[in-house]
Amino acid sequence: MSRVLVLGGGGREHALCHHLQEHGHDVWCSPGNAGIEKTVPCPAPDRAGHHGVVGLARSLEVDFVLVGPEQPLVDGVADALADAGVACFGPSQAAATLEGSKAFMKDVCRAAGADTARFDVCATIEEARAALDAFGPGERVVIKADGLCGGKGVTIADNVAAARAVLDEYFGVGGPARFGDAGQTVVIESFLVGEELSVLGVCDGARALLLPVARDHKQLFDGGQGPNTGGMGAVAPLGPDDGIDAAFMARVQRDVFAPVLAEMSRRGAPYRGLLYAGLMWDRGTGRLAIVEFNVRFGDPEAQAVLFGLEQDLTETLLAVARGGDVDENLTLTCRPTCAVVVASAGYPGPAETGKALSVPPVGGDDAVFYAGVKAGAQGLVSSGGRVLACCARREDMRAAVEAAYALERQVTLDDKQVRRDIGASLL
Ligand code: AMP
Ligand code: GLY
Repeated sequence: MSRVLVLGGGGREHALCHHLQEHGHDVWCSPGNAGIEKTVPCPAPDRAGHHGVVGLARSLEVDFVLVGPEQPLVDGVADALADAGVACFGPSQAAATLEGSKAFMKDVCRAAGADTARFDVCATIEEARAALDAFGPGERVVIKADGLCGGKGVTIADNVAAARAVLDEYFGVGGPARFGDAGQTVVIESFLVGEELSVLGVCDGARALLLPVARDHKQLFDGGQGPNTGGMGAVAPLGPDDGIDAAFMARVQRDVFAPVLAEMSRRGAPYRGLLYAGLMWDRGTGRLAIVEFNVRFGDPEAQAVLFGLEQDLTETLLAVARGGDVDENLTLTCRPTCAVVVASAGYPGPAETGKALSVPPVGGDDAVFYAGVKAGAQGLVSSGGRVLACCARREDMRAAVEAAYALERQVTLDDKQVRRDIGASLL
């Protein structure tokens, strides 16, 4: 059994802790949150920054630190832990640039020969406006802030005129820049059509062990309408009935993970940790293009994949954290699992917080993973945009979806926002 410190305090980290605990490991979560704290000790480091994390990991005598969110990775926490001789699952700062800069990610894809949307990287509004000349007036244009924006930095403009207005917002023409410095370089790319897939791989620098494929639901409203969010719900696994068979997974290894891992190594930034490939698959043309890379488990994909996973992932994570290899031929399986996010009114804009929350008791094949919650006078209250995810694992997907929604109906939160079609594309 291992001793593990999970860094972070959202739904993904709660799901990671639950997975580790379910397999008998000793787990701490820092900073955690008031919901996670019901079942997992959530110690605070005695000082801020990487030193605090190193000190906490040492005092708990953990076997390894498992980093949940991207920000500490982009800030170099894995490097600081490595320097201190503490094993860490999560990529180095250099490797985390795959998520930290969308321009870098596109450059790596191009150098690796991996398929991704046609793009331009623009550092000024003039360059960005000029890049729009490559689009027909009625063509959709995807505009991405280069830096980290908590999943909100992407805008899909319906046509070139709308794209011009979006660029003004990003570059702060006639008002404050919408994403501050993170949006002062933008990637402008063509719109990809197809089905989105989230493929998560545990990578050892050269090889990837792929987890069962998940589907996130990124837009706020049913049917994929409305603004992008961090993710409103997820299902896993997608399987042969959805076109995701062994041949498809072999293609993902060959066309996505292998070339990108090789390119990262060639650049002197071997990728060790969880690599999340957001893919767009057009069944009509067969095109499989990379939309994005994230350098950590997806949120809410982790809530679905890890809750459903039938094997213990801990040994593999520990091996990678210690510099060892993954066995890419292991087969990981996942029970049909659905995660439905309950979000606050206002999200993904400024969320209404401080609202009373009531959640039924859960256990067994039902779980609630807490994200934006804190302790109030009478119990938990909301403290962020995404408040929690209701999860259920069952024998088939229909039952899992129904059970997750049955749980969600028992969660009370004023003016909660919930998508009603999580998993519908698989039924
Ligand atoms: P990203 O942060 O790059 O993953 O983008 C967030 C979401 O925007 C993705 O999950 C897609 O739903 C959508 N998106 C991003 N890039 C494209 C694209 N080139 N074509 C179509 N949709 C996209
Ligand atoms: N669910 C998408 C993400 O974690 O970025």
